[in-house]
Amino acid sequence: MNEIKTIAVLGAGTMGNGIAHVAARSGYRVLLCDVAQNLLDRGIATIEKNLAREVSKAKITQRQAEEARAAIVPALDREALGGCDFAVEATTERLEVKAEIFRDLDRILRAEVILASNTSSISITKLGAQTSRPRQVIGMHFFNPVPVMQLVEVIRGLETSQETFETVQTLAVALGKTPVEVNDAAGFISNRVLMPMINEAVFAVMEGVATPEAVDKIFQLGMAHPMGPLALADFIGLDVCLDIMRVLEQGIGDPKYRPCPLLIRMVDAGWLGRKSGRGFYTYT
Ligand code: 3HC
Repeated sequence: MNEIKTIAVLGAGTMGNGIAHVAARSGYRVLLCDVAQNLLDRGIATIEKNLAREVSKAKITQRQAEEARAAIVPALDREALGGCDFAVEATTERLEVKAEIFRDLDRILRAEVILASNTSSISITKLGAQTSRPRQVIGMHFFNPVPVMQLVEVIRGLETSQETFETVQTLAVALGKTPVEVNDAAGFISNRVLMPMINEAVFAVMEGVATPEAVDKIFQLGMAHPMGPLALADFIGLDVCLDIMRVLEQGIGDPKYRPCPLLIRMVDAGWLGRKSGRGFYTYT
């Protein structure tokens, strides 16, 4: 396995720009790739804002922020990723979208390069099967906000090799994170436990048991969660929560994972949480 110097990050959204931020701040060169210039511009603007926030909190120096920013090169064309030593995909939580990207990365990147996915619930084994290198396909699941959260859930697919697993563990540590190993199953551990809790909180609101404010206060004050489940759902994105519930429902096949009708209705209405300005709360 060659030394990792340049990392390709696919997707400049919340998770992708967070991963690019952390990788650049940890001394890697980053090619940040997305399909439209406005998505790249928005991702880079978020990174600049978050680097400035870290400078203002004296977590990094102005010079380190400038070096990190300069290490991130935007790319609209996947062909530009050819020289990268590692790839992590952080795009839409849909199998068909990720499958197409994995097939393309398999064609473009050198045969020994690891292809990781930041998927929050989709099967790593299925993504591996899209490529000619399933031994080098692995899950590397970061948490939002990526610059702040300590965890990387590392998911082995059926064919993921020990060498790939160890490389990714070492990389996670080099990024300042703590890796935790899990096996490949719908939602892994984090979302298998977190999303049913959020979904149940939505059911409780739909049934009039309590207001969103009351539900969240119970979890903040009673269980010391930094955010209650509904504020967290808004933060993650209600569309992302719904997609994950559907993966759990289909993948595990137990009706207890059925998405709450209120969650479905809110997504249908375009109430996606913070990113759309409205979810269980409103945001200006
Ligand atoms: N970049 C860099 N730093 C950031 C940041 C960002 N994007 N967002 C927040 N910070 C820093 C702040 O500067 C602050 O630093 P300080 O401690 O030095 O002052 C610190 O993080 C705390 O932020 P704030 O003071 O602004 O606000 P809070 O104290 O309310 O914390 C929070 C914000 C860190 C988001 C906290 O509410 C929290 O931990 N919430 C829970 C987040 C969570 O559960 N994430 C996981 C979601 S699930 C997921 O991602 C998986 C997916 O598959 C669905």
